[in-house]
Amino acid sequence: MGDVTDGWLAGSTYDAFMGRWSRLLAPRFVSWVPARVHAHWLDVGCGTGALCEAICCGARPASVIGCDPSEPFIDSARQRCSDPRASFVVAGVGDLPTREGGFDSVTSALALNFFPNPEDAVDEMRRIAATGGVVSACVWDYGGRMELLRHFWDSAAALDPKARELDEGRRFQVCRPDALEALFRGGGLREVACQSIEITTRFSDFADFWRPFLGATGPAPSYVASLESRQRDALAEHLERSLPRRPDGAICLTARAWAVRGVAR
Ligand SMILES: C[S@@+](CC[C@H](N)C(=O)[O-])C[C@H]1O[C@@H](n2cnc3c(N)ncnc32)[C@H](O)[C@@H]1O
Repeated sequence: MGDVTDGWLAGSTYDAFMGRWSRLLAPRFVSWVPARVHAHWLDVGCGTGALCEAICCGARPASVIGCDPSEPFIDSARQRCSDPRASFVVAGVGDLPTREGGFDSVTSALALNFFPNPEDAVDEMRRIAATGGVVSACVWDYGGRMELLRHFWDSAAALDPKARELDEGRRFQVCRPDALEALFRGGGLREVACQSIEITTRFSDFADFWRPFLGATGPAPSYVASLESRQRDALAEHLERSLPRRPDGAICLTARAWAVRGVAR
């Protein structure tokens, strides 16, 4: 599903682009995942560690392992999260960390759609969970109300037909409630539930909105990096004209995620 053009290269540019929003989303997601205190957690595709931090702050875990194939992201996560219960390893789907007796909670934020095969990923997450453990994930609603990316890809497609192929709303068909529930049920999980979680993404002005797209980390910034400067300027102008504004010039958009969870047999 993900590919090299997604470019998970630098923790600081990821944080400026999307990490700041995943840090708002993560505590809301953690509070929706049922977990006993002193549980052992695994965060798959932990990136720069937003979800691990939220688990440490909100779920009173015994331990949290964050894993991600991107070494720069794991370095960032280690620097940011000094909680002694958290540890980070370079590892991805297909080679996930295991624990004797299984993890009580295996989770993943904003990453499932980037795994090469989400079915295999959910199957592996279930296998490394303890019997009765919880498997959960959340993904952005790319085709719907992840508005900052919807505005981006709609403007990109208006100027460049090739951008339609890269539109995350088209690419990530799994990021819909029915598809997520089917994925989890098909992966052998029971008591499957899915719910939306919405946050507000507020940008003080257009520069605040646009600058993070220039960091070349993630699908939309990687697309921007592939453009010539003339095309990049045209895209910025199109977006600046189409985005809604508050009277003070701020741009306030909704970012909706779908959260899904199930219990391992
Ligand atoms: C949008 S980022 C989300 C990061 C973090 N969970 C967050 O909420 O900010 C997607 C993450 O998926 C990771 N990823 C991509 N392919 C993966 C794989 N095969 N196994 C595990 N993680 C993967 C990327 O390295 C990246 O950190």
